[in-house]
This record gives sequence, C-alpha cells and structure tokens, in this order.
Amino acid sequence: MNKTGRAVLEILIGGDLISGTAIGEQLGISRTAVWKHLSQLRAWGVGIQTVKGRGYRVEAGIELLSEPQILAAMLTESIPLLDELHILNDIDSTNTYAREQIEQGFGSGFVCMAERQSRGRGRLGRDWVSPFGRNIYLSAIWEFQQGVAALEGLSLAVGVAVCRAIKVLGVTGIELKWPNDILLGGRKVGGILLEMLGDPVGVCQVVVGIGINFEMPADAAIDQAWADLAKHQGVTRNCLAGQVLSQLLPLLSTYSDLGFSHYKSEWEDYDAFQGIDVQLSTPGETVAGIARGVSASGAICLEIEGQEHLFSGGEVSLRRRV
Ligand code: BTN
Repeated sequence: MNKTGRAVLEILIGGDLISGTAIGEQLGISRTAVWKHLSQLRAWGVGIQTVKGRGYRVEAGIELLSEPQILAAMLTESIPLLDELHILNDIDSTNTYAREQIEQGFGSGFVCMAERQSRGRGRLGRDWVSPFGRNIYLSAIWEFQQGVAALEGLSLAVGVAVCRAIKVLGVTGIELKWPNDILLGGRKVGGILLEMLGDPVGVCQVVVGIGINFEMPADAAIDQAWADLAKHQGVTRNCLAGQVLSQLLPLLSTYSDLGFSHYKSEWEDYDAFQGIDVQLSTPGETVAGIARGVSASGAICLEIEGQEHLFSGGEVSLRRRV
C-alpha cells in the first residue's frame, strides 16, 4: 500500500459513509484508483462495508500506527535513544527491512514498525502471522562493540522488556516461556526474533524483532494456542508500541554493561514453567526434566535425575510434559 492507499483508509476510518467519487475528489485520484485501493485493503482483511448508492465505511474501528502517538506514549527519558522511526504500511518482514537499513548506514536506535508483514518470520523457520492493522510488528537495530559474546541472554532480557511494557498497561498474567515466548493465560501472545550481523568478535549489529498479538482475527491460521491483548481495556496499539520502545531502548543501550545477570531474577519471576515437568527438544535429542529457572547467561536449567543441567542454543524448543 502506498501513501494514497493509506490516505483512502484514513478517510474511511472517519466513520461516516463516503462515496468513491467523494474519496477520489478529496485525494485528486480517479474512482477506478479508489476502487483499486479498496480491493487491496479488503484483500488484507480490512472490513470495508459498502452501502449501495451511498458509499463505503470501515466496519470496526482501526487504530493505525502513528508516530506522534507512539512518541507521546514513550517515557521522556527513552525518546533520545530513538534515532529514527519508520512506519511502513506493507513489508515482507520488519527484520529484513531493518537489516537492509544497516547497509544504508543506520545503526543504534533505528526502529521500524509495519501495519502488515507479507512474510513475517518466527523462530525455528516458522512464519509469523501478520495481518494488516491488528498487531505489533517491530524491529530495532543496536550496535555492539564486543562481538556476540556481549549479547548472551539478550533475547531473554528483551522478553522481560516486553513483559514490563505490557504490565505497565495494566494487563496481568503475562509470563515467559524459555527462551523468549510471551504468554498470556498460557497462550502465546508475543515472540522475539534476534538476528546478528557484522563481526562476531568485534563490531556487530543486532536486529531485535518483536511481534505482539494485539487484536488477531479469530480465524487466524496459527497452529498453536494464541492470545491477544485487545480485550484488555485501555490498551491501544500506539500506547503499547510506545511502552515497548520505552523499555527496549534503555535495555539495549546498557546491555553490554549490565548483561543478562541483571535481568535473571525478573525473568524467573515471569517464568511460566518454573518447577514444572518439561521436555526440551534440539535437532539432535529430546530430554525430559523439571524446569529450574535460568543461568546468569540465559541458559535453561533442567533437573534430570536429581542433577541440574544447563541447555542453551538457538534451535531449541520447550514444552510442558504431559
Ligand atoms: C517467534 O517465533 O516467537 C518469534 C516471532 C517474531 C516476530 C517478529 S514480528 C517483527 C519481526 N519481523 C519478523 O519477520 N519477525 C519479527
């Protein structure tokens, strides 16, 4: 969707019925062009109602992402850490876009968000369902001087930042599932995908991708139990984005000094699986044990036959043992 497509949507969000001709006149485009934008929006799942002979309107309220509203929701002290904010209508993946911006010279404090991702990416090669105007799809860049060693546990710490942001908005019952799934009522409400670029032992950049289900369509094709936040009164998408940035940017700017040990006990306060029988799967093996929190570097600790063992690594997944 280009700027005109967004302008068409903004007119429709006004709520009153409006004809295609009137939209075209306001924007200086033909009725055919208006119609093409409407079809595009419909194809993305935006509920546009047509009343014969009278015009169009958006069925249910949509809150589009807005830079001024996001900035207004941010804590004052975190705003200087935001170097650049790109709000995109339609992108393959905000993580991919952020990676491309590193090549264009952007670095720490660059953030992009999108209304829709056509190829949103999750952990373990999964897709991340990313319909238009519904959820949070956000990626931030940060540069680190000491290589990937300084990033140990960062994805878990980002999970803590997201939990804090959601909690600030008054939502209770947020939990974390190792390494960094965000759960609400035991169902997945958000996820984190970190990608590293640059020199593994020198200057490197990390792209922190965060997806939060805000108002997922009921029929979303997601193959696991999911939750969203929209039913929680007073939570708006722009406020949520502002809170996430307020927690995330200070964390990134101090992480090479503080490390994961600073977040360990808070992570464990959110741990959904503490003391629970779990099964951990890696590409090579599956082990069973009792979850006993995390180490100072973010590895999961499992008690197996009375002994504690640490597990870390990217291609690992954890589930409750039944
Ligand atoms: C997971 O599988 O739990 C991680 C999901 C991460 C999704 C976010 S949405 C914003 C960013 N762009 C992507 O393509 N993925 C991440």
